[in-house]
Amino acid sequence: MEIRRDRKRFPAAELSRGTVLIVEDDPQNARLLTRLLTADGFAVEVVGDGAAALAAVGRRPPDVVLLDWMLPKLTGIEVCQRLKRDRTTRLIPVVLLTALDARENRLAGINAGADDFLTKPYNAEELRARVHSLVRLKRYTDELDFAESVITSLALTVEARDATTDGHCQRLAHYATALGAALGMTEDELASLDRGGYLHDVGKIGIPDAVLLKPGQLTREEYGLMQQHTIIGERLCGNLRSLVPVRPIVRSHHERLNGGGYPDGLRGDAIPLSAQIVGIVDAFDAITMTRPYRAQRSREQAFDELEADARSGLFDRDLVSVFLRVVDQREVELPRAAS
Ligand SMILES: [Fe+2]
Ligand SMILES: [Fe+2]
Repeated sequence: MEIRRDRKRFPAAELSRGTVLIVEDDPQNARLLTRLLTADGFAVEVVGDGAAALAAVGRRPPDVVLLDWMLPKLTGIEVCQRLKRDRTTRLIPVVLLTALDARENRLAGINAGADDFLTKPYNAEELRARVHSLVRLKRYTDELDFAESVITSLALTVEARDATTDGHCQRLAHYATALGAALGMTEDELASLDRGGYLHDVGKIGIPDAVLLKPGQLTREEYGLMQQHTIIGERLCGNLRSLVPVRPIVRSHHERLNGGGYPDGLRGDAIPLSAQIVGIVDAFDAITMTRPYRAQRSREQAFDELEADARSGLFDRDLVSVFLRVVDQREVELPRAAS
């Protein structure tokens, strides 16, 4: 009730319960839906065809789209497919409005990625309940998206503090996914490697400049402090669901097969594969880029060095040789001096 009062005084969408885009070419139906939803506190925009729907979503993404099945220009199914294919709009819930309850229609809708269905004539209670629950879902995914983007900007802030690591996160994401793809990993696993590449060093936000940027060798205490970035980083990822598969990468990318790494001194297979992958490409990037403590190496030197590391038990030999093959076949782009 309070929100309704607010809505009267402040009709702006920001104070509504959510924004709903109604895509309906039948004016009578559009009016009915508008009346039901505005009475419940939603801010509503109405468009009459598929192309206008895509334009409206592009202009101002709504919380929910109510999409008529039969539309001029593009059908509801086509609009739905396009929204679900686009990375920037795929999390907007789409409800298909159908006159028929035919099974084939639903199947086509599910295949197009529709989140829900409503059959005409509408039951007002059902309509309200569905829109409310989808707006809640949308708010939840918005929060997750936001939390993840905050952590990613933290990671980029860390990188910006150190001029010599410019582009490090991006390169690691690129190398790690290229190696993962060569190993036949799934889309989800590749997505985690991509995020892991960006976030692996996010914990360095907690390391003072005097240590992080020190040009010479670190003292024992400083090195101990530096090692903490793995634990701080894992903590920063918190319990964000989308980051659960990334946490092992953040914590364990400095573990080494022979047990000589940190923070847990894990050995062999106890080190998650994703963390081994990021560990290898992190070492490769450190070798090929200039660091405060040493000059840049050529590509051949980098290959030799990484192979020597694998021989001495730091990295898995097979993983290293697949990665070097990927680099050799130019399946990844290298920074200029090392290519
Ligand atoms: Fe690290
Ligand atoms: Fe790193």
